[in-house]
Amino acid sequence: MNDHASSVDALARRALEEVAASGDLAALDDVRVRWLGKKGTLTEQLKQLGSLPPAERPAAGQRINEAKQTLQAAIEARREALERARVEQELLSGRVDVTLPGRGEERGGLHPVTRARMRIEALFRRAGFDVAEGPEIEDDFHNFEALNIPADHPARAMHDTFYFPDGKLLRTHTSPVQIRALISRGAPLAVIAPGRVYRSDSDVTHTPMFHQVEGLVVGENVSLANMRAILHGFVQAFFERDLKMRLRPSYFPFVEPGAEVDMSCVFCDGAGCRICKHTGWLEISGCGMVHPHVLKASGVDPERFTGYAFGMGIDRLAMLRYGVNDLRLLFENDLRLLQQFRAF
Ligand code: DAH
Repeated sequence: MNDHASSVDALARRALEEVAASGDLAALDDVRVRWLGKKGTLTEQLKQLGSLPPAERPAAGQRINEAKQTLQAAIEARREALERARVEQELLSGRVDVTLPGRGEERGGLHPVTRARMRIEALFRRAGFDVAEGPEIEDDFHNFEALNIPADHPARAMHDTFYFPDGKLLRTHTSPVQIRALISRGAPLAVIAPGRVYRSDSDVTHTPMFHQVEGLVVGENVSLANMRAILHGFVQAFFERDLKMRLRPSYFPFVEPGAEVDMSCVFCDGAGCRICKHTGWLEISGCGMVHPHVLKASGVDPERFTGYAFGMGIDRLAMLRYGVNDLRLLFENDLRLLQQFRAF
């Protein structure tokens, strides 16, 4: 063995020792770069071949290349060993204790207003009603005109309407769905129409957006007594309580006669408390027999058909059922309130 050969062998041995000594992947990579990289020691050896006598070059070159290959293989083997060790280490340290309680998904829940709406829909569906819809951006005809509220009618002043520049408006109640349902479905029909309504009004008991549910039943021989029975049945089922109900004469342009629906106070059972202002009654809905003008405007013959309609506040029903004492709480989306309505 000549001098050159033995020095290559010595280098190779040192390199292999370093490979064996590298304790992790980063250290191993350092070794690789130091010996086999562009400026690595063995690479330099190849570059210096030119300084050897020509006769020795082929053998020397071959020796260096063999040394490189051996080293390469050793690095590869070491890398695999280190990687396996690392995985094993990770498995050990990250061992899953299947007996630990899970980190848990956050449970979601339905907003109390949504819950109340779904409950209302389910109860009326059971009584044979369909659920109808109408647009929140309405026109004057559906929101007012066809409901027997002409342009100069004083009832318009009570509606605090949000208007768009083109004359369209945000519906101020769900009553326009009465018109839409009658025009599109005709009589006889029984529908409820829950949804958002808007009024430019904001204080402790009013928010600019709130929810109503409209009810409409039109047919031959539909009477006020039918309405009373349906509404009382609904109130009892919604609150799951034996509550009294009464109709108090009132005025709405689209019904004749018109009435307010009161139910006995769910908080004091009619004895009188702060919530019912010591009357023992809570007002929950407007109602009445559909005005002939409304039927006519919707293409229904008032000589043949009669009907009743009602409109109630879903938010108020939700508050009464779930014991929420401030309307604004329903729309602030405070998690402390909403978390109390998580699914269970
Ligand atoms: N639309 C009325 C309102 O928003 C509520 C109402 C009263 C609806 C009487 C009716 C009804 O269908 O018959 O104040």
